Amino acid sequence: MAVGIFDSGLGGLTVMNAVQARLPDVAFTYLGDNAHAPYGVRDMDDVYELTRAGVARLWEDGCNLVVLACNTASAAALRRMQEAGVPEGKRVLGVFVPMIEALTERRWGDNSPPRQVSVQHVALFATPATVRSRAFQRELAFRAIGVDVETQACGGVVDAIEEGDMILAEALVRSHVDALKRKMPNPQAAVLGCTHYPLIEAAFQDALGPDVKLYSQANLVADSLADYLARHPDMVGEGQGLRHLTTGDPARVSDRATQFLRRAVTFQAA
Ligand code: DGL
Repeated sequence: MAVGIFDSGLGGLTVMNAVQARLPDVAFTYLGDNAHAPYGVRDMDDVYELTRAGVARLWEDGCNLVVLACNTASAAALRRMQEAGVPEGKRVLGVFVPMIEALTERRWGDNSPPRQVSVQHVALFATPATVRSRAFQRELAFRAIGVDVETQACGGVVDAIEEGDMILAEALVRSHVDALKRKMPNPQAAVLGCTHYPLIEAAFQDALGPDVKLYSQANLVADSLADYLARHPDMVGEGQGLRHLTTGDPARVSDRATQFLRRAVTFQAA
């Protein structure tokens, strides 16, 4: 039994890496739905069905807790899955809330009314589906008042990363940052609202300039997962170690993952 980490493809590895470093004694099973990536250009029902199937696969595999290490899946499916009801003893969590809590200077699980926060102009970079869902603004409105959010749907970036074409991914980042700056010339903070984007975080920081504070999810999710597991020890599985599963071609996905993480990663067929 392990904690499950789910993403449409390779992006969740940024979260996987951080949670494993933070919780080295916990066993994890990663599932990338590479056969169906990218999710960000699909409609909400489609993303919901794919996410539900992926999470069910990890639950069947023995994971009691599954983290959606994917903003698009979190935006389209998390609330809907929780409202539909999860099987006895199983849980699913997303990646949005930890990031918004960091941005709004809240401690994990602080549900007090929304209040004024220091950051007022925030740029959100995410997939077209996440931007369309407005889930980020909704979660933010529960916690903060007076924050101006400008969004930029970063079409093409996830495809380029999944294909391993980092030159294209970086060129697309520059053009998406330019487009954002035409709408919001001086953002104070920028949120990388897609778990693939930390793989090209330097390109975002470079295009935005050194004065813009970047929020990226991996470490924030790792901290909040550590906190959650301390409060719910029954959700920590037994054993140790890490398994990687994919719905795509294991050899191809292993190559890309090894290239991104700069260490050998071996995927098996899901
Ligand atoms: N990494 C994902 C996210 O955080 C999904 C990207 C995609 O499949 O389009 O949104």
